[in-house]
Amino acid sequence: MSIDYNSEPIVSMTDIRKEFPGVKALSGITFNLYKGEIHCLVGENGAGKSTLMKILSGAYRPDGGEIFISGTSYKELTPHLSQKHGIGVIYQENHLIPTMTVAENVFVGIEKTGRFGFFDFKATIEAVKKEMKSLGIDIDPLCMVEKLSVSEQQFVKILKALVLNPQILIMDEPTSMFNVKDVDKVLDLTKRITAKGISIIYISHFLKEIVQIADRITVIRDGSVVNTYGNNDRNIDLDIVTMDMVGRPVDMFYKKDVSEIGDIILRVEELKLTKDAIPVSFELRSGEILGFAGMVGSGRTEIVRAITGADQYYSGRIIYKDKELSPGTPKDSIKAGIAHITEDRQKLGLMLFNSILENITLVGLSEKIKGFFVNVKKHPPLIAGVIDSLNIKTPSVFQEAGYLSGGNQQKVVLGKWLFAGADTYVFDEPTRGIDVNAKAEFYKIMSDLTKEGKSIIMISSDMPELISMSDRILVVQNGRINKEIKKEYITEENIIRSALGMENGNN
Ligand SMILES: Nc1ncnc2c1ncn2[C@@H]1O[C@H](COP(=O)(O)OP(=O)(O)OP(=O)(O)O)[C@@H](O)[C@H]1O
Ligand SMILES: [Mg+2]
Repeated sequence: MSIDYNSEPIVSMTDIRKEFPGVKALSGITFNLYKGEIHCLVGENGAGKSTLMKILSGAYRPDGGEIFISGTSYKELTPHLSQKHGIGVIYQENHLIPTMTVAENVFVGIEKTGRFGFFDFKATIEAVKKEMKSLGIDIDPLCMVEKLSVSEQQFVKILKALVLNPQILIMDEPTSMFNVKDVDKVLDLTKRITAKGISIIYISHFLKEIVQIADRITVIRDGSVVNTYGNNDRNIDLDIVTMDMVGRPVDMFYKKDVSEIGDIILRVEELKLTKDAIPVSFELRSGEILGFAGMVGSGRTEIVRAITGADQYYSGRIIYKDKELSPGTPKDSIKAGIAHITEDRQKLGLMLFNSILENITLVGLSEKIKGFFVNVKKHPPLIAGVIDSLNIKTPSVFQEAGYLSGGNQQKVVLGKWLFAGADTYVFDEPTRGIDVNAKAEFYKIMSDLTKEGKSIIMISSDMPELISMSDRILVVQNGRINKEIKKEYITEENIIRSALGMENGNN
């Protein structure tokens, strides 16, 4: 559908301002959306993207400015009003109810009632099935949400927004928890949605995705609009966008420094996750970054979860620093010096009602100062380095983690483990949802850790990241290691060929 930029925008936000205690989140933002348009919003973690969208969805009240929707001007919106104007939101946070089914989650609050005013179960299931089919999503509507993978949960969130027939859809980082294959599905979905004349506001840190779908791109930095670009030929210069975001040129191609690869620290021997699995064996050396490559559902996450004690396994041995780890005991692994930064950080890594300080010192202090009452308040200087190096944007270390922007929450989880001072770090998709600048900082931290003789296992679907940071790569396919690729042979083609099972062995 072609977009008529001479028509009235369907949403026009003018000079929007919003402050939180100690934080100027938005200082006069003007933002327009036209019918059928995909308007992407980009900016560093904490730039104000989610805040602006929460004002449009009526969740936050602005301190100043004006919102113009379908011919009416408002000083502020309410969730009800916003919904009445057809604004649907897919939030960055997970708002699903884990112990309810997919269908129940989709229709919670808008239950279809039958003839007698009761909840019509059958009609609900049918409606969900129909909607999913039209979107090419294959999930059992009767499945409990807690049983779904993070990307499946994300589809449920999208579905939930779509059944309300929105005119405007806000998607706040819909793919930050996704694997490559599913990302394409979402991008495809946005096209189908706009083809119906619906407009989309799309927030993401993946500039390469954005450039594929955006009609226009607006960059915000520190609560102000820096630039809005048209993307007619889909060939916008991403270096310029990145520079707008950060305010200076960024070296996006950080490469791991050379570190001394030492002795074997971890040995995985004949590990079988299930009875019929093909056994997996490999070792990790100190000073080494071992990358795990593979397609969606290839089993990378499951293998590392066995190592860190997050899940049980069927047979085999995991030997760390010459001692066998007891299966399925995360405490054991942490004590031995293994840190695990999981894929689903919001659910598993953070105490939202506790301060940044408490979150970061949680693991480290209890290990460092055993048996004593710990007055956490005395420790801000200890974590200053971590806050600094990760560039966590907050007015104070006493701020509740729940008030931080999505990306900054993730940085806190990383910070917790850096502070804990582990010997081996297991990172599962560590840089999802983190801005370019923080990414570069994070790579430097990884590199420095290896120079201190620490070792790292990194699962990543970000090919450039995997290639530039790994000393060695194991390619996983169908739960087994299909190939080991040494540094000098690491290329994208080599990885993909063996991830698809076109070749195996070692080189
Ligand atoms: N409820 C709140 N209370 C206090 N501060 C808040 C609140 N919501 C947001 N902020 C602050 O406002 C600023 C903007 O946050 P926002 O969530 O809009 O960032 P963002 O651009 O969405 O970042 P990200 O990419 O990390 O999601 C941040 O400094 C954040 O800590
Ligand atoms: Mg956000």
